[in-house]
Amino acid sequence: MNILFVGDITGNAGMDKTTELLGRLRRQYKADFVVVNGENAAERNGITEKQFRDLRFAGADVITMGNHTWANAEIYNFIDREEAIVRPYNYPAGTAGRGYTIVDMGRVQVAVINLLGNVYVSSLPSPFTMIDALLEELKAQGVRIILIDLHAEATSEKIAFARYVDGKVSAVLGTHTHVQTADETILPKGTAYISDVGMTGAIDSVLGVKTELSVQQFVTQIPVRFAHAEGEAKLNAVLVTVDDKTGKAVSIERIQA
Ligand code: FE2
Repeated sequence: MNILFVGDITGNAGMDKTTELLGRLRRQYKADFVVVNGENAAERNGITEKQFRDLRFAGADVITMGNHTWANAEIYNFIDREEAIVRPYNYPAGTAGRGYTIVDMGRVQVAVINLLGNVYVSSLPSPFTMIDALLEELKAQGVRIILIDLHAEATSEKIAFARYVDGKVSAVLGTHTHVQTADETILPKGTAYISDVGMTGAIDSVLGVKTELSVQQFVTQIPVRFAHAEGEAKLNAVLVTVDDKTGKAVSIERIQA
């Protein structure tokens, strides 16, 4: 099975690029399953219901989130009813939405889990302490293909986590830092890994934010209200090929479009 994962869609520039390209990429890479991170899609981060629908219509099977999940209050209108959107699993029981979803593809089931890291990004319970029980649960349900979007800042935390679950999941794909890393690999026991898939958003920007606003904050040291940059955009993604029978990854390839 070929799985296409698109890195953090940022603002309108990222949304336009994704809706324009996703169908073509899906055909070009013979992707059977598509996941996109959509936590920065809306103007002040988060995701609107229309954006969720537009991404689904464009070909996304599942949309993952991160630390900005709740930034746009519209999410409360649809997160409970839509199984195709996943917020971090670290939140306490009873939190709106779900931390993972299982998509039935007929021949196989695919689980998509969203987790937040701890280092410099969140004080929620550690992904390391939460994952074992969930993987046992998925194993008991016979789910072999498991993707984790690890939304985290520190490469050390992401690499350590991927090695912790190596062989137990198909892929650990890092998101959040918006810069695609060149360390894609298949770990010794068969888990595909990359520290960060990258960003889908405006090229002329600071991680998708208008350059002048980001620079102003660094220069003045006073918080600035950010806005997403516009203009020409790039799409960052990875293609992971997984053996359906074993759930182990066969290859991982970086994509820049
Ligand atoms: Fe984030």
